[in-house]
Amino acid sequence: MKRDFLHVTDFTTDEFHEVLDLASEIKAKFKRRENYKPFKDQTLAMIFAKPSARTRISFETGFYRMGGHALYLGPADISMGKREAVKDIARVVSRYNDMIMARVFAHAHVLELAEYASVPVVNGLTDFNHPCQIMADIFTIQEHKKSVKDLKIVYIGDGNNIVHSWFELACRLPMHFICACPEGYTPDEKIMETARDAGLSTIEISHDPMSAVKDADVIYTDVWASMGQKEEIDERLKRFEGFQINDRLMAATGKNTLFMHCLPAERDREVTDSVMESAASVVFDEAENRMHAQNAVMLKITQNA
Ligand code: CP
Ligand code: NVA
Repeated sequence: MKRDFLHVTDFTTDEFHEVLDLASEIKAKFKRRENYKPFKDQTLAMIFAKPSARTRISFETGFYRMGGHALYLGPADISMGKREAVKDIARVVSRYNDMIMARVFAHAHVLELAEYASVPVVNGLTDFNHPCQIMADIFTIQEHKKSVKDLKIVYIGDGNNIVHSWFELACRLPMHFICACPEGYTPDEKIMETARDAGLSTIEISHDPMSAVKDADVIYTDVWASMGQKEEIDERLKRFEGFQINDRLMAATGKNTLFMHCLPAERDREVTDSVMESAASVVFDEAENRMHAQNAVMLKITQNA
């Protein structure tokens, strides 16, 4: 049986912690430039229906450094679901490659890809979630805060795919998570209820960023219009007024708070340039850790297969 990584909850709590440990080990090996080639002579097909910097670079570089070769298949190459059925692509690519990473619009596409592929499928972002990002984020928090348990994480902005993966994580790790967003931009109710029902974490929705951030260990944000929504930006700029992360909001936590952003950031919209450049900002550690966390995820799902 092959194993996929489509949601953070695909790992049990124990496995989740093992992946973080593995990420730390792999990172150390990379820093020492050790000869470490667990994917020697293997190939990873990377299917992108949307643009990317970090996801493409980190998967391609990470897989290469672990001994394999990664193929970039851009939006014009495969046109999954348009030029060819998802279930056909799944089986064709499985005949050539040892693993698939896919970034798609519809979450149903990554589910279908995983169902029909005979090799492991890793979710590199859908309209619904971004599990690799959240694995990298929590790994980054662990490095900076030493412990990842019972932190207060305040996300400010659009209730989008990033928030949904935070909810997935909240099913595995106890936290106090607040999503402060404008009315009408709240996250998916169903996944929020799932996170609450898991009974581990406190999950709240707020429409008041200033009060939400009090005592926050982490303030997190993302773009106000995700890929596929960019034409809504004028309306969103009006609706998200007051939701920008700036120095005043960072100071309102009353403690030493990390600033995080999955990137790409639209500076001086959802976050000011000064917060991005501040000592609190760990955004480039997060970006680097995409590679180490994903490498650990790919190893875990193939070792346990
Ligand atoms: N954070 C992230 O996934 O970045 P890219 O969209 O550039 O891959
Ligand atoms: N919410 C953003 C995340 C980008 C990494 C998007 O989907 O465009």
